[in-house]
This record gives sequence, C-alpha cells and structure tokens, in this order.
Amino acid sequence: MAEDLSIAKGTKQEQYESLIPQIKALLEGEPDLIANLANVVAALKEQFNWFWVGFYLVKKNELVLAPFQGPVACTRIRKGRGVCGTSWEKATTLIVDDVEKFPGHIACSSLSKSEIVVPVIKHNEVVGVLDVDSETFAQFDSTDKLYLEKIIELIDFTSAN
Ligand code: SME
Repeated sequence: MAEDLSIAKGTKQEQYESLIPQIKALLEGEPDLIANLANVVAALKEQFNWFWVGFYLVKKNELVLAPFQGPVACTRIRKGRGVCGTSWEKATTLIVDDVEKFPGHIACSSLSKSEIVVPVIKHNEVVGVLDVDSETFAQFDSTDKLYLEKIIELIDFTSAN
C-alpha cells in the first residue's frame, strides 16, 4: 500500500474516481474495522477537505461516535434524532442543503452549513452511518451520495456491534 494518498484535482466525480482505488488498497488485507474506518475518513478528509467526516456505529440502540476527522463532536445520538438518527431510522441517505432548516438538526458546530448522512446497511439492518459536514451551503449532491455509498460498500462491517 502506498503511504501517501495521491490527491486528485478536477470534477467531484474525477476526485472520487481517483480516491476509490486508493481506498481499496488501504483496506486490502486489513480485518480491523476501527483501523479501516480511521483510514477511510482520513482519506476522505485529505481529498475533499470537508469540515467534518466520520462514522457513528450503532451500539445498544444508539449511534456512538467512531473514527472521524474534524472538530470534537457529540458522542451519542438516539434513533430519529438529528440528521444522523433520521438517516438511521429511515435507512436512507439524507442530503441537507441548509442544516438550520432540518428540524431537530444536532449542531455539533455552528460552522457546519450542509450535511450528508449515508447509512451503513448490512443484512437489512443499519449498523452505522457515515456523516459528512461542510462549511458551505448545499455542498452535497447525488454524486456524493453515489460515491459515498460505493465507498461504504468496500468496508467489511461484520465485526461492528
Ligand atoms: N449534525 C449531526 C450530528 C453529528 S455532527 O454533525 C458531527 C446530526 O444532526 O445528526
């Protein structure tokens, strides 16, 4: 595995296309979930320089903070609460252009303006979410949804919970 990430320029799609094989290489042969989540969020942060990117994992019916990059964040989120808890409850990706307009949004930082949350679904059950926050309004779109869902598919979550 290369030690340095190669940072692509270009369209959002081109950036994801360059990143995905590198994420595959980072994950190859490593069974430890926390190590893999840590490297995936680090790679995403390095490529896109988002404000916050991280995982929450479902533990005893709560989302609990897992590897992330960015400022400190709330550690536990209940089902149906905030964007993360709603994505979990509905088992669907949520794109929020303006977090202040999302009822119940949990503001870990007032600097966060838009957000995408992608649920991790294994055997028809949500086992966690990937949460990304941006300081720019309407940062995320269907391209992010497509590629972030693909990236999550690359990770073996069997040891989660
Ligand atoms: N804003 C999220 C909470 C997590 S932080 O943004 C890292 C929410 O409403 O669920």
